[in-house]
Amino acid sequence: MKKSMEGFTKPFFFLYSLFSIITTSKALDTITKTQFITYNNTIVSPSESFEMGFFTPGNSKNWYIAIWYKKIASGTIVWVANRDNPLPNSSGVLKLIDPGILALLNSTNNTVWSTNTSRSTRNPVARLLDSGNLIIQDPNDHNPENFLWQSFDYPCDTLLPGMKIGKNLVTGREWHMSSWKSKDDPAHGDYTYWLDLRGYPQTFFSEGSVVLYRPGPWNGLRFTGTATILIKNPIFKFGMHFEKDEIYFSYDLLNSSVPSIFIVTPNGFLQRRTWINQNKGWVLYANAPTTVNCNSYNLCGAYGSCDVDKSPVCGCLSKFVPKNLKDWNVTNWSGGCVRRTVLDCKNGDGFLKYSGVKLPDTQSSWYNWTMTLGECREVCLKNCSCMAYSSLDIRGGGSGCLLWFDDLVDIRLFNEGGGQDIYIRMASSELDGTVQQAGFNGKRREIVIVTLTLLTGMLLLGLIIMLYIRKNKKKKKKDSQLKIEGRPVHNSKQGSTEKNQKEDMELPLFDFATIASSTNNFSIDNKLGEGGYGPVYKGRLEGGQEIAVKRLSKYSNQGLDEFKNEVICIAKLQHRNLVKLLGYEGGRTLMGWPKRFHIINGIARALLYLHQDSRLRIIHRDLKASNILLDIDMNPKISDFGMARIFGGNETEGNTSRVVGTYGYMSPEYAVDGLFSIKSDVFSFGVIVLEIVSGKRNRGIIHPDHHFNLLGHAWGLYEEGKSMELVDGFVRDSCCLSEVLRSIHVGLLCVQQHPEDRPTMSSVVMMLGSKGELPWPKQPGFFTESTGSSSKTRGILLFIWKLKEVIEIMENMKDKVDEWEDKVDEWKDTWQDKNEDGRNG
Ligand SMILES: *[C@@H]1O[C@H](CO)[C@@H](O)[C@H](O)[C@H]1NC(C)=O
Ligand SMILES: *[C@@H]1O[C@H](CO)[C@@H](O)[C@H](O)[C@H]1NC(C)=O
Ligand SMILES: *[C@@H]1O[C@H](CO)[C@@H](O)[C@H](O)[C@H]1NC(C)=O
Ligand SMILES: *[C@@H]1O[C@H](CO)[C@@H](O)[C@H](O)[C@H]1NC(C)=O
Ligand SMILES: *[C@@H]1O[C@H](CO)[C@@H](O)[C@H](O)[C@H]1NC(C)=O
Ligand SMILES: *[C@@H]1O[C@H](CO)[C@@H](O)[C@H](O)[C@H]1NC(C)=O
Ligand SMILES: *[C@@H]1O[C@H](CO)[C@@H](O)[C@H](O)[C@H]1NC(C)=O
Ligand SMILES: *[C@@H]1O[C@H](CO)[C@@H](O)[C@H](O)[C@H]1NC(C)=O
Ligand SMILES: *[C@@H]1O[C@H](CO)[C@@H](O)[C@H](O)[C@H]1NC(C)=O
Ligand SMILES: *[C@@H]1O[C@H](CO)[C@@H](O)[C@H](O)[C@H]1NC(C)=O
Repeated sequence: MKKSMEGFTKPFFFLYSLFSIITTSKALDTITKTQFITYNNTIVSPSESFEMGFFTPGNSKNWYIAIWYKKIASGTIVWVANRDNPLPNSSGVLKLIDPGILALLNSTNNTVWSTNTSRSTRNPVARLLDSGNLIIQDPNDHNPENFLWQSFDYPCDTLLPGMKIGKNLVTGREWHMSSWKSKDDPAHGDYTYWLDLRGYPQTFFSEGSVVLYRPGPWNGLRFTGTATILIKNPIFKFGMHFEKDEIYFSYDLLNSSVPSIFIVTPNGFLQRRTWINQNKGWVLYANAPTTVNCNSYNLCGAYGSCDVDKSPVCGCLSKFVPKNLKDWNVTNWSGGCVRRTVLDCKNGDGFLKYSGVKLPDTQSSWYNWTMTLGECREVCLKNCSCMAYSSLDIRGGGSGCLLWFDDLVDIRLFNEGGGQDIYIRMASSELDGTVQQAGFNGKRREIVIVTLTLLTGMLLLGLIIMLYIRKNKKKKKKDSQLKIEGRPVHNSKQGSTEKNQKEDMELPLFDFATIASSTNNFSIDNKLGEGGYGPVYKGRLEGGQEIAVKRLSKYSNQGLDEFKNEVICIAKLQHRNLVKLLGYEGGRTLMGWPKRFHIINGIARALLYLHQDSRLRIIHRDLKASNILLDIDMNPKISDFGMARIFGGNETEGNTSRVVGTYGYMSPEYAVDGLFSIKSDVFSFGVIVLEIVSGKRNRGIIHPDHHFNLLGHAWGLYEEGKSMELVDGFVRDSCCLSEVLRSIHVGLLCVQQHPEDRPTMSSVVMMLGSKGELPWPKQPGFFTESTGSSSKTRGILLFIWKLKEVIEIMENMKDKVDEWEDKVDEWKDTWQDKNEDGRNG
């Protein structure tokens, strides 16, 4: 007689569904004093979205009263009444008793579970609403405020739209979510998601009393510790609500035909899932805490900062040092960091701005909604135990005041948007400069742009430009000399010395002899590769500094304009995965899957930044494997912005009569019609992904059976369900199947024929990072080669240059752009003059 459930078709899929539901002839939505529920009948909400009745989960023998989805997502349990008081068998009855109490009685008529109420009514009814809320009401009074009781006040593991996590300040009622004990047992489990009202309210995800994860304080737009990609999505809208009587977190659906739920799983995850269809089920949309370390609460200790892109992930905030170096050296970060200069409140401290930060734990904080940032600073400055301040709401330029009165813990740095500005108290002697966001100790970098003109007597006359970086080797170099690293901070109030900053912006000009000798007279051995407008050489200056020299070929069909464009583009950009490095062709690299996947993700993030997150929208237009350069840590860098187009505001598409780019990477609409958009970059990205996975060039592939290029080949294998055959032999041994297959799938989605079918880079980043279902890819563009290419398969085309220092492009350079443009024009003139001279002489 027992109805069994089997809902676990996928691993880690903890949604409980019911397959054999007993449906009776007539579906009622109410329980009254005369109509009750037993194991063989249910009640159904008016439009049949939810149903309530008896159920027994998984392998359990116990019986429970539960609410589940009916019309769509049929059988997914969203709420359990008697989760801690099961019935031993199906004998029991759920009935309504005076004065408005719903009670579950067992076979001996004892109450095993009941609702309670502080009010009473003459003819109460219990009703299941279309929102999934079970309410007890006076049948004539539909005012939610007057409900005698509602299930939404008692969330289980699932938060439906309209439910709250938080507290009613008047009644003291708290709402929190808690996991099931196991998939067979809906009793209260260890994991809870709840709102902490100490200081500025923030939510915590805990296991028992141990905090596992903190999304960060709400700043009007988002939790400061969550990914920005979650903010704008077509499915749901979420946020914190600070009302007079209530403070709570909740969310709403934007499209009621796409259900979305928020759950706490029995194995300790907070998940957002959206319903696709009965075949695909609830697809994972977001998951926390992820395996990425930075999600672990307070991983790096006080004033430590977590950065997922660093290894190890923990560092000290700039101007802070490890409290105990010995512990820190063995990656015991729990001791955290301390200011390298102790505070001296009496003699005047100040504040330094740190950007892109997940705001610290607010347990011992104070806040005010109406103060300005200036007032906030004043208040904080006056109180010696105030450690930091920030805006409370960043909308409309920022307002409100948040003050911290304890050591700052659980800080995380975001490099691609996300996070927020915070002003941290600092001794006055430390205030002479600005602090960059990714403020790690020790790694001081500086970039210098070197330009020179030169004349050669042979075939080439060229303009050699170098971009290189100089690392400060002396650790204790004065900060005033380190101004141009990282993201700049404009915080004039705190006495930053911009003058110093300017002075540090060296732009040395090198003479030809220096460059010639550094590259061994442009020796062929020093040649790293051939760029669109000339060869690139590796050089070494007298001080041992490694440099890259890009030599402009007189006969190149690209020239100064592209070069200028590149300088300007780079100068305007700032992103860790977007820099100018020069590389050489490094043969086939024996690279395992984790590295390759790391590279794919890095490229995706860099491209997302170009398309969406930078202040300008930039379409690269010449994305290809040889423009992806790897630093010593195998972090990919996108280079060569010679063809890039900068767009303002909402412009997303352009047209050109001069199609430049590289065949094999160009999308059909660009190659054929000259139409380019962010989707043409997505196409190129897809080609690169497939190349990285397969270790083969798109155009170089030779197959005995067909004339397809790599795209066609990959698609064919995909269609036949044999994607694994595409994979590079080196990868096959080292990898995790699902990531590889997912990368191929995403690659194929990116190279689809029609631009509108291709995902945006933000979707790509999300798809690569999640486990959810992906759409089926349509036919790729340019999947066949017109002529059988005779070139041999060349192996993976990543160009690696293990430069000692990673070149990073600093935003400060942007100030220099105008100067640059003038200079380049000057050089052009000089060069032409010399050119003339050279010929005449
Ligand atoms: C439901 O169960 C009750 C008690 O077990 C029984 O009296 C009733 O006939 C059953 N109804 C149906 C429709 O099976
Ligand atoms: C449930 O258990 C009670 C007591 O053990 C028993 O009287 C009753 O018949 C059982 N009901 C069913 C449906 O097995
Ligand atoms: C339980 O209550 C019902 C209705 O009030 C009654 O018919 C039944 O005999 C009672 N059963 C027991 C075991 O007391
Ligand atoms: C019914 O519940 C009461 C009180 O919880 C308990 O003592 C009794 O054993 C239960 N009866 C059955 C059949 O489980
Ligand atoms: C409901 O019951 C709980 C515990 O059983 C009690 O703490 C609470 O005060 C009751 N609420 C009302 C309104 O009676
Ligand atoms: C809601 O989602 C459905 C199914 O995906 C879609 O067909 C419909 O256009 C969407 N409606 C709106 C207003 O976005
Ligand atoms: C910690 O590591 C640094 C750099 O590796 C080293 O200079 C220092 O001596 C180490 N300190 C201790 C206490 O081990
Ligand atoms: C880590 O360091 C803290 C103090 O900084 C110390 O109390 C703790 O024992 C250390 N843990 C381990 C595993 O060494
Ligand atoms: C918040 O700040 C405003 C303006 O400074 C002040 O009028 C108000 O009293 C403050 N509120 C609280 C709760 O301190
Ligand atoms: C500083 O702020 C703390 C926390 O709000 C408070 O307890 C303390 O009295 C303040 N000190 C002064 C001097 O205002």
